[in-house]
Amino acid sequence: MKGLSPVVCSVFMLLLSVNSQPIFAQEQAATTIEQKVELLLAKMTLQEKIGQTNLRGRSSRAKGPLPDNLKATVRDGNVGAFLNVMKPEERDELQRIAVEESRLGIPLLFGRDVIHGFKTIFPIPLGLAASWDPEQAKTAARVSAVEASEYGVNWTFAPMMDIARDPRWGRIAESFGEDTLMAERFAVAMVKGFQTDDLSAPTAMAATAKHLVGYGAAEGGRDYNTTLIPQNELRDVYLPPFKAAADAGVASMMTSFNDINGVPATGNRFILKDILRDEWHYTGMVVSDWNSVTEMIAHGYAADKKQAAQRAANAGLDMEMTSDAYEQHLAELIEQGQVDQQQLDDMVRHILTMKFRLNLFEHPGRYQNIRSSILSAEHKQQARQAAIDSAILLKNQQALPFDTNTSIALIGPLADAGHEQMGTWVFDGRGENSITVKQAMQATLGADKVHFASGLTYSRMKTTEGFTAAINAAKQADKIVFVGGEESILSGEAHSRASLRLPGAQEQLITELAKLDKPLILVVMAGRPINLLPIIDKVDAVLFNFHPGTMGGPAITDLLTGVVSPSGRLPVTWPKAGAQAPIYYNHRNTGRPASDENFVAIDDIPVQAWQSSLGNNSHYLDLGFRPAFPFGYGLTYSRFSYSNIQLSSPTMTRDGSIAVSADIQNIGSRQAAEVVQLYVRDKVADVVRPIRELKDWQKITLKPGESQRVSFTLTPAQLAFYNQQMQQVTEAGEFDVWIAPDAAGGLHASFSLTEQH
Ligand code: BGC
Repeated sequence: MKGLSPVVCSVFMLLLSVNSQPIFAQEQAATTIEQKVELLLAKMTLQEKIGQTNLRGRSSRAKGPLPDNLKATVRDGNVGAFLNVMKPEERDELQRIAVEESRLGIPLLFGRDVIHGFKTIFPIPLGLAASWDPEQAKTAARVSAVEASEYGVNWTFAPMMDIARDPRWGRIAESFGEDTLMAERFAVAMVKGFQTDDLSAPTAMAATAKHLVGYGAAEGGRDYNTTLIPQNELRDVYLPPFKAAADAGVASMMTSFNDINGVPATGNRFILKDILRDEWHYTGMVVSDWNSVTEMIAHGYAADKKQAAQRAANAGLDMEMTSDAYEQHLAELIEQGQVDQQQLDDMVRHILTMKFRLNLFEHPGRYQNIRSSILSAEHKQQARQAAIDSAILLKNQQALPFDTNTSIALIGPLADAGHEQMGTWVFDGRGENSITVKQAMQATLGADKVHFASGLTYSRMKTTEGFTAAINAAKQADKIVFVGGEESILSGEAHSRASLRLPGAQEQLITELAKLDKPLILVVMAGRPINLLPIIDKVDAVLFNFHPGTMGGPAITDLLTGVVSPSGRLPVTWPKAGAQAPIYYNHRNTGRPASDENFVAIDDIPVQAWQSSLGNNSHYLDLGFRPAFPFGYGLTYSRFSYSNIQLSSPTMTRDGSIAVSADIQNIGSRQAAEVVQLYVRDKVADVVRPIRELKDWQKITLKPGESQRVSFTLTPAQLAFYNQQMQQVTEAGEFDVWIAPDAAGGLHASFSLTEQH
């Protein structure tokens, strides 16, 4: 349809819908989606049913015309969905064949990884989480859906809601961080942004809650690695975001690549049936990950494709992505009684339900084929705001903000790297549409005041030939801004790193620049927390951005020049080194918790010391026990004081609640935002509870001197956990509570939960 006018396109859409009507006259007369699905299911042959379970891949870079055999297989009703068909004419042709030429005319789903933007790229999900503002994530998803629907995508494989406690894991970039409550809230926001309240709306796109489940717990932070997750941990930590997404009406879920305690997620009946269907009554569709059905052979869970298909189908996996075990073996498995016909019907029901919810039967070409919103000024402004709200100020010794009269030496491999600033999982965004820090800073300060020399042309570069030019540029300026970090390809799927340090010769160049004794500001763009310890004492300020997207340059320039104060906070605990991982604030205390008083560092131990019990507590001799920065941490250009914590009552009854409140005051000289966080600790329980758990937060903006009383309501339901009998309980007893600026500090109080109602 490329090149065709909107009018011709709409005629085509009309034809699709008109042609589809006679076939579905009966279904359309039915009032509920359930009725429509049952009527259609009753007409389907075994082969057509199996066809619906096939999700076929097509490389977005595929060359040449659509192969005839692919068209024939759609015509025969052997495909239910495609992913990565991005040429409009191919997509329209496939949909036309499905609707007009297949026996039942069932429309196709078109899936795509639209993760944090389509053409207008927003910060990576970890960055969106750093805003602590789920509305930013909702906007990012809405903009993504509007732009992607214009390209005919009706199904996105997002949001990813895996809990990520290990920054070595490359996919931490796609996560909302380590906290379950944050993942729940951001996941729901994105589902609503993608789907709206009405999945049949023209720019609504079906979302996918992924990856079910535990993928982020990969041992050693190595992607695809095995996971060992006790059931109560699974239920308390890893599953709640999926439950929240299910309750929010997410159209589909995707199983993960990993095994959980030895059972691959894709063939995991306990997860896919017992929990998802029987406990949660989820009615959406469950798709495998890429080849994850046949990968059960490599796992050692299936001897061959046939057994893989049997295991997956009996576990309740509805649709198979890219591999063809269902296509090849489901019919035979059903004939042999190894998979129940009823099971297949249920799988097809879930798939058809999603297609009816999307209104594809009436509008198979519901996409507009109009490129009106792509990279619009409004979308770019929204992406800029999200990037501003996602940046985290980690250090500032009066180096920031600087005024626009300042002359700047702009150095570093990411200062002018439009592609790299977009981050991982960008298929459709283009680097040339990004505005880099160099471009934005030149526009704001004037080209004559920005002395640019990258020093290193890419983040992994090890040679130092560009250092001299960078140092010369630095000598000409009042201040030095070094923009470094990781190229986008260094995080994301399969891109785990054992070291969290800045790659290449970046530390070396920063060290050389520090010798000039000028204010040195480090701006980092990366897909994970970076170990800054080797250089943090050499720089005066650190502004950290999880890859900020298309509008990263203007957002960072706004922050550096003080148009706005940074307001992001860490959605993850920041380790001192990769060796500290996994690391997360909501850990258990252990029987020997370390403290400043009792911990022994490697240099404190006398030479030839007798086998001593000094420092017998949970720490590293060479890294201690604290992270570099706690979860929730982030500075602003102002300061806030916390005072006067109060509880509405010292006791909470079983059906009651208590209010916890405190005064927060801006005691600095600039307007800024504070993320006020509520934490709780259950002091004694049947299963040991974390030392702190985030229960709520509020992001407030205060003018200089302004004070606000911030109040939270706590209920017994927020204190629930799974006990040794795997029952969700709330136990009476003593609780600590904090209103805090991060997971390490804050005002403390305590209350008790009584058995009384
Ligand atoms: C990833 C999924 C993604 C799928 C389709 C897989 O490799 O794990 O997250 O949605 O590919 O591209």
